[in-house]
Amino acid sequence: MRWLLVIAVALALPPAALADPPPSGIVHPSAPPGTPLVELGYQLYAGNCSSCHGSKGEGVPKLGAVEGAGDVPGAGPSLRSVGALSADFYLRTGYMPLDDPGHQPHRSRVLFSNHEIEAMVAYVASLGNGPPVPKPHPERGNVAEGLHLFTSHCAGCHQVVARGGYVTGGVAPPLSNSTAVQIAEAVRVGPYLMPTFSPHAISDRQLDSIIAYVAYAKHPDDRGGWSIGRLGPVPEGLVTWWIAIVALVASCLVLAGRLKS
Ligand code: HEC
Ligand code: HEC
Repeated sequence: MRWLLVIAVALALPPAALADPPPSGIVHPSAPPGTPLVELGYQLYAGNCSSCHGSKGEGVPKLGAVEGAGDVPGAGPSLRSVGALSADFYLRTGYMPLDDPGHQPHRSRVLFSNHEIEAMVAYVASLGNGPPVPKPHPERGNVAEGLHLFTSHCAGCHQVVARGGYVTGGVAPPLSNSTAVQIAEAVRVGPYLMPTFSPHAISDRQLDSIIAYVAYAKHPDDRGGWSIGRLGPVPEGLVTWWIAIVALVASCLVLAGRLKS
């Protein structure tokens, strides 16, 4: 009887209760109109980010036993020289603010207005000499070259059609929701376990081709086989197994029939 109750309770829970809760407790300071952008950014930063990144962006190296995400030994890394580029990426993807310093950042609903994001990006940029927000031109890129570059640099983690996959210690997300600017930013930042690619490793021109390819991969034509929802190697492997099992069982039955007769 008790398990019936457990199932009933599980069914009664709204699906949202089972998913990750959105980061709660966002502070929206009531700055009077005309407040300089960097000042508003500082107030937003103080209320939502300083607990992990330090009161002036210096980072929080140690927080008792708590370890930060990725290789960060503490609550959060220093933001002194990450620039507008990194802040824009982490805020517009909803990766920040993180709910727990030990978690991998992931795409979630953005809880700041566009103006508030611009303000925080301006504040983080004011902390040091970091790079600005990039301006990619995917229309100048070449899809075939992009496929080639993506296969050698990115597909190992994100899978060749950019549907994402698992890497040791984390998840490489699908790129279906990433904008051109976010792709350009991610390649230069190397968020979490992703490596950073300098302009020597991937030039801005090559980056345009990669972005053009990712845009193409969102709507590829499924020539030469079933797409199986383009979910990647795991379902593809499972489908292969299903076919293999049916074939194996069929041949066993045939063999058994022959042995009997
Ligand atoms: C070693 C594995 C690895 C490689 C190689 C890699 N990535 Fe990533 N990538 C990741 C992980 C892990 C994340 C998630 C980062 C996080 O959660 O903070 C990510 C995130 C991203 C994002 C943000 C996705 C989103 O919308 O949330 C983009 C865009 C991206 N990668 C593009 C690329 C491109 C383009 C390349 C090749 C030039 C590449 N990645 C190579 C592991 C990898
Ligand atoms: C619970 C702790 C926590 C909070 C709150 C938080 N962060 Fe972070 N932040 C982290 C950790 C941990 C990382 C490292 C994640 C990674 O490696 O991808 C990070 C990474 C970043 C980065 C990337 C730094 C780099 O090296 O490029 C930026 C930018 C950033 N955070 C901005 C913010 C902003 C802006 C806020 C407030 C809106 C915020 N964070 C709130 C913990 C936090």
